[in-house]
Amino acid sequence: MLSLPKEFVFGGATAAYQVEGATTEDGKGPVCWDVFLKEQGRFSPDPASDFYHEYPTDLALSKEYGVDAIRVSIAWTRIFPNGTGELNKKGVAYYHALFAECLKNGITPYVTLHHFDTPLNLHQNGDWLNPKTIDAFVAYADFCFAEFGSQVKKWITINEPASIAFGQYVVGNFPPNIQYDLPKAIQAMHNQMVAHAKVVNLFKEKDYTGEIGIVHILESYYPAEDAVENLAAANTCNVLYNQFMLDAIYKGYYDNDTMFVINEILKQNDGKLTILPMDLTELAKAAKQIDFLGLNYYQSHFVQPFHGESYIHHNGTGEKGTAVFRLNGVGERIYNPAIPKTDWDWVIYPKGLYDMMLYIKNRYPNYQKIYVTENGLGDKDQVVNGEVLDQSRIDYVAIHLKAIEQAISSGIEVKGYFIWSLQDMFSWTNGYNKRYGLFYVDFDSQKRIPKKSAQWWKELSESTKKG
Ligand code: BG6
Repeated sequence: MLSLPKEFVFGGATAAYQVEGATTEDGKGPVCWDVFLKEQGRFSPDPASDFYHEYPTDLALSKEYGVDAIRVSIAWTRIFPNGTGELNKKGVAYYHALFAECLKNGITPYVTLHHFDTPLNLHQNGDWLNPKTIDAFVAYADFCFAEFGSQVKKWITINEPASIAFGQYVVGNFPPNIQYDLPKAIQAMHNQMVAHAKVVNLFKEKDYTGEIGIVHILESYYPAEDAVENLAAANTCNVLYNQFMLDAIYKGYYDNDTMFVINEILKQNDGKLTILPMDLTELAKAAKQIDFLGLNYYQSHFVQPFHGESYIHHNGTGEKGTAVFRLNGVGERIYNPAIPKTDWDWVIYPKGLYDMMLYIKNRYPNYQKIYVTENGLGDKDQVVNGEVLDQSRIDYVAIHLKAIEQAISSGIEVKGYFIWSLQDMFSWTNGYNKRYGLFYVDFDSQKRIPKKSAQWWKELSESTKKG
């Protein structure tokens, strides 16, 4: 039995590029992924879940199945096809219609401004490594606040800066497909933190109404086999993947214990991090004004030190046991056979979610409030006799909601949970066979089938509201 507060938000999460399809329709400009996916030739972002046309169906289903809020992102190049300059009125009209439909169904939109889909020309000029991307992002955000502010009151600046930075420059499964360049990844994270801070500061200075936050992927790191000698590796990973960015958004500067680890990594990799005095002014100001943290959580990691040639293999096929992660000077992930993992080698460990929230509360007492903005199970769902009996997803979500319930009892301000994902969709690095949705999508016909988890979700959402 789960017992969550009556006002707890039951949300469904999506991202423009993963659901909308219609990647060239109505004047949309190109993004980095269009080119990258074409070059790879593994899968296409069209039709995805055709949310560009099917959103009324998904929102009607959301209402029926107890979804109170939806996380959507705005595709930057539907608004500004080149990232800056010329405006695309059809794109603006689309988002007005989408938000109106949300509100008509009583569903609150939580809107992300950047979810991995950088405009192509900004990407080709250095993406987040180029400060011009920050300026373009601030202008685009300002436009969105002014244009959509009457419909949208919950804003998210950037989705998962670490996934972008590491995907682009360390794992190499995001464009521009570079591997093991840690200094570039650290710089890209810092620049995104500055972009986030500038947007938060602008939002508050211009007195736009509503709340603004950021979404971080936050995974807990533990010493493998609980061995003391592995503690240092767990700390290094935590600082690099979590603490560096949490310091930026909550402290407004990088604390000494954080910079100690970051500088070590930079030294080992002959790299440097450029932080301008102005950056620190922006970070400090934004840290006092951020309204909430969006926490994305799927898995945790057990690590030991690793010194040698880096080798990372991303499991993008769902063939269990194929993921490898060894990063020189950072650590190696070890899988404990006693701890379950998904077919994509994602370690299922709800305690990691609880521990992460506790760590945030303890290290950053000014953290305000947390929404879990993504959590869910990627699986190879099948339709059998017209039904999708996804009990494993129900089990996964239930144990993570239990961890949230425990966090709330420990005095942590957790206000809502957005399941990843609302409907089945396109996955950046796994294509179409890794399904997360409450609603099954037949990608040929675009028909939706509410899964068993949708019915379970509806009952839970409704009984929670009754108290
Ligand atoms: C999150 C992203 O990191 O994980 C989503 O914000 C993504 O965009 C989700 O789809 C699940 O990842 P994957 O690789 O299973 O699609």
